[in-house]
Amino acid sequence: MKKILVTGANGQLGRCIKDAAPDFPEFEFIFVSKEELDIENETSLKDFFSKNSFSHCINTAAYTNVEKAESEPESAFRINAEAVKSLAETCKENDVVLLHVSTDYVFDGKKGLPYLETDTTNPINVYGASKLKGEEYIQQTCDKYFIFRTSWLYSQYGHNFLKTILKYAEENKQLTITTEQTGTPTNANDLAKTLLQVIEQDSGNYGVYHYSNGGETTWFGFAEEILRQIGKLKEAKLAKTNHYRTFAARPKYSVLDNTKAFNKLNFKNIGWQESLQSVLKR
Ligand SMILES: NC(=O)c1ccc[n+]([C@@H]2O[C@H](COP(=O)([O-])OP(=O)(O)OC[C@H]3O[C@@H](n4cnc5c(N)ncnc54)[C@H](OP(=O)(O)O)[C@@H]3O)[C@@H](O)[C@H]2O)c1
Repeated sequence: MKKILVTGANGQLGRCIKDAAPDFPEFEFIFVSKEELDIENETSLKDFFSKNSFSHCINTAAYTNVEKAESEPESAFRINAEAVKSLAETCKENDVVLLHVSTDYVFDGKKGLPYLETDTTNPINVYGASKLKGEEYIQQTCDKYFIFRTSWLYSQYGHNFLKTILKYAEENKQLTITTEQTGTPTNANDLAKTLLQVIEQDSGNYGVYHYSNGGETTWFGFAEEILRQIGKLKEAKLAKTNHYRTFAARPKYSVLDNTKAFNKLNFKNIGWQESLQSVLKR
């Protein structure tokens, strides 16, 4: 039986994996929160792996505050790079397949076309640089790994763009949203299911993959669609801006090309608007 360790289990993606788990009764799961397994603590990591045996580890643990990372680069690199290195080494030592999640922010956004896995990376913020370093450590350490770069994750859980817009709409507050970046909102529930399907398939096609929902939009377009789907677009106080100031620079265009994942892992592409509907119906 496949036994799957899920780290960072109280985060957004971790919770979506927990929700998807009953659809995979053939797997045994161990979900661990940061309190139960801190991936920065190499000793407890090694100890945990020696006391339990797994076939796969899905690492959803990460430092994800893109803005804060600019002033806390040490923390971002400690979690997204150094801890990932220890985790990769531990997986290698225990012959565990590592499934890791990375980001569209490893790219600089200057390509103007959907990014392929083979495109040159060039992060323009600390978070992206720390995630890229984590990817590099995995590639240097493991043979059996999947790295899934995804984008603009949202769901019913945690702090994310969808939840912010819903809250503002509820309070009828003014929303000023940027049109400066183009990307693809991705439902974390779809990613969760996909990760488990990859384990189910057992293809052995290890490597780096791009995974997002289908299509592309701006943050403004995403906000507009959320408001449209909840029937509040007309009454909402929604305005565009093309110079929203942030600490962290963000790629202007970070759409991910999913072709490799379609071909090698049989991914299905769900359009981002359709997938949004399924989260709003929950
Ligand atoms: N969210 C996005 O838009 C987005 C986009 C592209 C890629 N990604 C990637 O997708 C993955 C999942 O993101 P998410 O949205 O689920 O993030 P999230 O909600 O912030 O979850 C991350 C979880 O990791 C935990 N964590 C932090 N440090 C840890 C440590 N040392 N040991 C164990 N757990 C630790 C966090 O706990 P605390 O909250 O207590 O610190 C949190 O529960 C991440 O790799 C992220 O980089 C996210």
